[in-house]
Amino acid sequence: MTSYPLFDVRVSTPTLELRGATDDLLGELAHLVRAGKTHADPPPYDDPISLYEPDPDLRVAKWMRSIWRGRGNVEPAKWRLYFVVVVDGRPVGMQDLIGVDFAALGTVTSFSWLSVDERGRGLGHEMRAAMLHLAFEGLGAKEASSDAFVDNHGSNSISRALGYEPNGSDWATRLGEPGLLNRWRLTRANWEQHRRNDINLHNIESCQTYLPLTQNSH
Ligand SMILES: CC(C)(COP(=O)(O)OP(=O)(O)OC[C@H]1O[C@@H](n2cnc3c(N)ncnc32)[C@H](O)[C@@H]1OP(=O)(O)O)[C@@H](O)C(=O)NCCC(=O)NCCS
Repeated sequence: MTSYPLFDVRVSTPTLELRGATDDLLGELAHLVRAGKTHADPPPYDDPISLYEPDPDLRVAKWMRSIWRGRGNVEPAKWRLYFVVVVDGRPVGMQDLIGVDFAALGTVTSFSWLSVDERGRGLGHEMRAAMLHLAFEGLGAKEASSDAFVDNHGSNSISRALGYEPNGSDWATRLGEPGLLNRWRLTRANWEQHRRNDINLHNIESCQTYLPLTQNSH
């Protein structure tokens, strides 16, 4: 066990593993961030985000700082579990699970990126399914949401395939330019219909202890 038990939370599927994003794992992932392997065209992320920083070394520094900040903010209104996606021992991307008013509403959202070299062979779908299994099966979530720019075909296809329903649209900027977002919502009942029996959760007791999952938790 590490000195920060949330780092020990893991989700494994037949093809990949979500591992708690320790500094060692972030260090292994940093070369992908430095090399711009997080990029996509059209730009997929809404502002502000470290991944749009043009200077490669500064991009890595800002990316790490944002993760350190996010780890340190554990409040009932918002907490975030950062996971590194590992395939055959190789870190290839990130899949984060974000609690939004979880204690009161049971709602989560997510964020992800996969190295450009690993896209298009089902890993994006698999890592989202793993995150949802942790949220619904492990933490008892009631609903998951996801937003993606209308031209982010990968993310929108994954949401549709996993049973999310359209939930309107919204505006955000990316690199300073306005863009329309699709909003998606996955209810617990719809997740149940896509529930998998080949995804395993490890050390999730830490979540009950160290995250404010109920109204009574501190
Ligand atoms: C979104 C992302 C994680 C998807 O990962 P991926 O491994 O390429 O996705 P998959 O291979 O699992 O594909 C899932 C579906 O999207 C479709 N898809 C993926 N990329 C696509 C593209 N560029 N154009 C059209 N369809 C695409 C696949 O055909 C598949 O559809 P299907 O289930 O109907 O066959 C990856 O593209 C990525 O990291 N993008 C940049 C960051 C990002 O957009 N993050 C999410 C929003 S913040």
